[in-house]
Amino acid sequence: MSAAASSSTIDELLGTRQVVPSILAADYARLGEQLGEVLAAGARVMHVDVMDGHFVPPITIGATIVDAIREQVHDAGGILDVHLMVEQPENHIDAFAEAGADIVSIHPEATPHAHRVLQSIREAGCRAGLVLNPSTPVDVVSEVVESLDLVLCMSVNPGYGGQSFIPASVDKLARLRQRLPAELPLEVDGGINERTIPESVSVGATLLVAGSAIFGADDPAEAFRRLQAAI
Ligand code: DX5
Ligand code: ZN
Repeated sequence: MSAAASSSTIDELLGTRQVVPSILAADYARLGEQLGEVLAAGARVMHVDVMDGHFVPPITIGATIVDAIREQVHDAGGILDVHLMVEQPENHIDAFAEAGADIVSIHPEATPHAHRVLQSIREAGCRAGLVLNPSTPVDVVSEVVESLDLVLCMSVNPGYGGQSFIPASVDKLARLRQRLPAELPLEVDGGINERTIPESVSVGATLLVAGSAIFGADDPAEAFRRLQAAI
């Protein structure tokens, strides 16, 4: 059974600038309905925040939810971008790959063997991402760049939606962009809104994760369209 989107769909989406709705801020009692609204508005990359209560304090959702939404997202031509805020992510890669994840991103602080885990993400048939916390030096990407399909720069400390964008993230994104191959997608996550999108894009961010700015709005579809226009 092929759980993932086609390689060409993933390449195409990762080669463009996208606002990426984070379902962390969605109403889980109406998750399918809310996904349908943003998919109809043109959203194609869906961000799923997985938290384990250890790497970050909250516990959120797991592979069963990815499995529950994969058909809807893939049928609409979308892809699933799974952000693992969990310790020992190596124990969970296969479960998320089987559940339909197209991209799986890990934090280097969560495992002593980030290089190996990134390779195992690819071996499981997914694209591999590395996530930098605000305190993580940009140099960490240099040693594993061959194993990366994406870099995710946190512009808040992970764990909660609705926080303010850390201003120093703009300079950090610029430094990451200089270090990375030009075609490598650079994602930014935390406090993304109409004000922080233009400054992030101007220094090279290509995937802009937005949770509360979309699902906290009265009309998520309209909010998505406004943010996408800000790109
Ligand atoms: C935070 C998560 C984010 C979160 C962003 O730990 O990684 O993806 O959903 O939420 P907003 O857009 O509200 O900052
Ligand atoms: Zn996230």
